[in-house]
Amino acid sequence: MDARKRQCLAAMGIARWVPRGVAESLPDEASETVMEAPGWSELEQRVAACTGCDLHRSRTQTVFGVGDRAARWMIVGEAPGEQEDLRGEPFVGRSGKLLDAMLLAMGLARQDVYIANILKCRPPDNRNPTPEEASHCAPYLRRQMELINPGIILAVGLVAAQRLLDTKLPLARLRGELHSYGDNDTPLVVTYHPAYLLRAPLQKKKAWQDLLLARSVLTE
Ligand code: URA
Repeated sequence: MDARKRQCLAAMGIARWVPRGVAESLPDEASETVMEAPGWSELEQRVAACTGCDLHRSRTQTVFGVGDRAARWMIVGEAPGEQEDLRGEPFVGRSGKLLDAMLLAMGLARQDVYIANILKCRPPDNRNPTPEEASHCAPYLRRQMELINPGIILAVGLVAAQRLLDTKLPLARLRGELHSYGDNDTPLVVTYHPAYLLRAPLQKKKAWQDLLLARSVLTE
């Protein structure tokens, strides 16, 4: 990462994480913006204490993520809603029930996968995350992905898909094909958000095709 980008991230209060032992060897101006990559418990504590954006003022609690920390499947949604904010767990409301059913159809229980969101805090009135909020939260999700190292990422909904793939393309252009995420080129499949499928059940057939595509990556 070049110095200018580092400066911008530092100005926004966004930390850059490096492997243990590397931070000390960096020049002073670089080491100010880096922190050693946290393990699970430290990451969880940092998220719980995060005041990086204004959403911390209105949240009941942060919603870190849930599931198997050695999962092959990682599911990424948008942001906690009302139920998730109250319970501290992603996808526990109506769309969560549908997500559970979709997973079950693949022979997967909720505890077999890891589920997280682009944002760890609920946006008021369930509005879409702002780019600033998503940027502040991004290092947390990125670190979760590094720690889990999943075989497949399933991005559910437009917000998660656009954010993870750094694109403005519509969902219809993103689903139905294999993408990749991050330095490890982790395979990534995009599908509809369960909240949308509740409103448009006829699209469930396409969502099923997306799930089969995602599964094919792991069985190949
Ligand atoms: N919608 C999401 O995208 N994530 C949740 O956790 C709940 C609803």
